[in-house]
Amino acid sequence: MHISVLLHEAIEFLNVQSGSWYIDGTFGRGGHTKAILKAGGNVIAFDWDHEAIAYGRETFAHEIIDGRLILVHESFSKIEQSVRALRIETEKDLEISGALFDFGTSTEQLTSANRGFSFEGDGELDMRMDTRLGVMAKDILALIPENQLADLFKDFGGEEESKAIAKAVKQAKTPVSTTKQLADIVAKVKRHTRPGINPATKVFQALRIAVNSELDEISDALPSAFSVLNPAGTLVCISFHDGEDRLVKQQFKAFEKNKLAEVLTPKPLQPTEKEITENYRSRSAKLRALRKL
Ligand SMILES: C[S@@+](CC[C@H](N)C(=O)[O-])C[C@H]1O[C@@H](n2cnc3c(N)ncnc32)[C@H](O)[C@@H]1O
Repeated sequence: MHISVLLHEAIEFLNVQSGSWYIDGTFGRGGHTKAILKAGGNVIAFDWDHEAIAYGRETFAHEIIDGRLILVHESFSKIEQSVRALRIETEKDLEISGALFDFGTSTEQLTSANRGFSFEGDGELDMRMDTRLGVMAKDILALIPENQLADLFKDFGGEEESKAIAKAVKQAKTPVSTTKQLADIVAKVKRHTRPGINPATKVFQALRIAVNSELDEISDALPSAFSVLNPAGTLVCISFHDGEDRLVKQQFKAFEKNKLAEVLTPKPLQPTEKEITENYRSRSAKLRALRKL
């Protein structure tokens, strides 16, 4: 099961007030949503993964019936339009006191072989978080020329041996269409590996970011969520790699420069040693928060 990262810190920054509305932009398995509900807040939660939404509808049925949780099967870059539509649909003000993003993938997405995110086991090389998206990871490998594939592995994954890997993918006897095929090719090609880290980690991350246009999604989501936030509302973002954190940092700086917000975290918050020991996935997490002026 997915373990929520920096849960207490995120909830503390949101400063949840009983009866107020909060946005959870990345519902996942509802860990952060549950904590906001428990603190007395109401939640509009977004996820573009239909499995996450189905899980939420079942697990949080009572809160949905009570009108304390609204689940939206939509991309978080569409928060502004969705909240406007919900205000009309529900005839409620839905004033938003805080918004939270916990970027990346859930443990359930990463570990289920049929979603194609995992280098363990075998499955179709899919990697779409939202199955309504058109292009799978295997399509990218087939369609993009070798030099662009190498750039993709380097830019989105930080893979140093990107050129050799791209060449091997393009020279494979049959088109690379399964997770095992790709993991095996990378393992064979890579000369420098780190103990305990699968050699295909960076390549898989790069493909996942490309398939889901993850960085564009974040660039669009931050102003979108900010626009529906009440004055004095908090925006909290948890990132898992430099590409994500850079976007958050730059956007927060821009809000502050334009006197629209006050950044509450001059330096990002990181998990304690205890949290990292209990949940290894949290090791790269960085939390940044701001208050809208
Ligand atoms: C790290 S998990 C969130 C876990 C959640 N905070 C919890 O505690 O259970 C990230 C979730 O965000 C969703 N997600 C990622 N990018 C998204 C996007 N652009 N729009 C909507 N949901 C997205 C993923 O499908 C995934 O379920």
